Amino acid sequence: MALSIFRTKPIEQADTGLKRCLSAFDLTLMGIGAIIGTGIFVLTGIAAANQAGPAVVLSFVISGFACAFAALAYSEMAAAVGGCGSAYGYSYVAFGEVVAWVIGWILLLEYSVSVAAVANGWSGYFNNALSAMGMGLPEALTKSPELGGIINLPAATIILVLMWMLIIGVRQSAQLNTGMVFIKVFTIIVFVSIAAFNVHPENWEPFMPYGWFNTLPDGKTTGVLAGASLVFFAYVGFDAVSTAVEEARNPQRDVPIGIIGSLVFCTVIYIIVSGLLTGVVPYTKLGVASPVAEALKLMGYKWASALVSTGVIAGLTTVMLVLYYGLTRIILAMARDGLVSPYLSKVNPYTQTPVRVIVITGVIMSVAAGVVPLGALAELVNIGTLAAFVLVCLGVIVLRIRLPHLHRPFKNPLNPLFPVLGMVSCGGLMAFLPHTTWLRFMVWLTIGLIVYFTYSIRHSKLARK
Ligand code: ALA
Repeated sequence: MALSIFRTKPIEQADTGLKRCLSAFDLTLMGIGAIIGTGIFVLTGIAAANQAGPAVVLSFVISGFACAFAALAYSEMAAAVGGCGSAYGYSYVAFGEVVAWVIGWILLLEYSVSVAAVANGWSGYFNNALSAMGMGLPEALTKSPELGGIINLPAATIILVLMWMLIIGVRQSAQLNTGMVFIKVFTIIVFVSIAAFNVHPENWEPFMPYGWFNTLPDGKTTGVLAGASLVFFAYVGFDAVSTAVEEARNPQRDVPIGIIGSLVFCTVIYIIVSGLLTGVVPYTKLGVASPVAEALKLMGYKWASALVSTGVIAGLTTVMLVLYYGLTRIILAMARDGLVSPYLSKVNPYTQTPVRVIVITGVIMSVAAGVVPLGALAELVNIGTLAAFVLVCLGVIVLRIRLPHLHRPFKNPLNPLFPVLGMVSCGGLMAFLPHTTWLRFMVWLTIGLIVYFTYSIRHSKLARK
C-alpha cells in the first residue's frame, strides 16, 4: 500500500468527447474573465486601508511576481502533460496518486468556495442595482438564515443561470464571457481615465504606514506582505485556463498564450488601478465594500460610480462562470481516473459538455450560496491555490528529471531557477496568511485524506489495472 499510493499515471491524450472550439483569444478572455473580480473591485480597498496603505501597489507587484512564476510552470505542464485536470493531472504524472488526490481535493475547495463566495458578493451589487431602479427585493430574500433572512435568492439563482449556460455548451459560455469581459474592462478604463486627472500626491504619504509585516495581538496580520497574501485572491483564476486544454483548438500553443497573456494584462491593470486608487483618496477611506465606486463618488462623479457597479456585476459573473467551468473539468478528470465516482465522468454526446457534473455541483453551490454566508471562507481559496501553485512548480522540476525527453512545446526559462522562485514566493505568501486559515485548511486536508483512504484508493483505475 505504501507504494501504491505513489503510483503515477502515464501521459495519455485520448479523445474525450469534449468539443475543441476555443481559440487563443477565447482562452485569454477566459483568463481575464476569471481573474478580474472581487480582488480588484473590493479587496484592494480593504488591503490599502487595513494592511498596506498606499504601498498596496507593492503588494500587487509581489503577488504578481509569484503568479508569474506559477503561470510559467502551468504553461509548461499544460502544454506537455495536458488533460483537463490542471494541477491535479500534472501531479498524478509527476508525484503519484495520493499527492494528485490531495491537490484535486484542494482545487475542489478553491473553485467551489470561490464560486459560492463570489455569488454572495454579486448578490449585494445586484440588489443595490435593483434598489436603485426601485425594484429592490425584500431583505428576507437577500440574506442567508444566519444573517436574519430566509435565503440569498440572487446568489442561489445566478449559479443556476450559469449552470444552464455551461450545460448548453462551452462555445456559448465563452461568448457570454467575452461580452462581460469587455464591459468590466471598459469600466476600469473609465475609472483610470477619471482618476488619472485627480491624483493628489500627498495621499501617497506615508507610503508604507504598516511596514512590511506585523502580527497583531488578535492574530490578524498587517504590512505589505500580509497585503500581498490577501490581494493574491485578485490573481486567482488564470490557472482555470489550464482546465480548457481538451477544449482548445491548438492547446499546446494557445493554452500558454491564454495563461500568460491574461495574467500579464491583469497585472498591469492591477498596478495602475491600485496606484491611482490610493492617489485619489486617502487610503484610510478605502476600507468599504466597493472602494472603486466610493473613490469615484468622493471625486464627485456619481454617474461613473453607478457605471462601476455595472462593471462589478459583469466582472463577478465571469469570475463565477470560468471558475465553475474549471471545477467541472477537474471533477471530470478525477472521475475518469476513478478517484471520484465514474458516474460523473460521462460527457453528454449532444451538448458535448459534462452535464452530470455541471448539474450536481451547480445545485450544491447554489444551495450553499443561498443559505450560508460565505465571506469568511474566501481566504481559504488563497491558501489552497498557493499550495497548488507550489506543487505545479515543483512538478516542473521533477518531470524534467523523470521524463527528460518529454516533448515540451513550452519551456520554463532558466530551469530550475524559475520554478524554485515560484515555490519560494508562493510558499512565502502562504506563510503570511493568518493561523485560522491554516487551521481550516488542515481540517479540509484531513477530510480529503479520509475520503482517499476509504474510497479512492480502491476505486482508482490504476489500482484496477
Ligand atoms: N480573481 C478573482 C477575483 O478577484 C477570483 O474575484
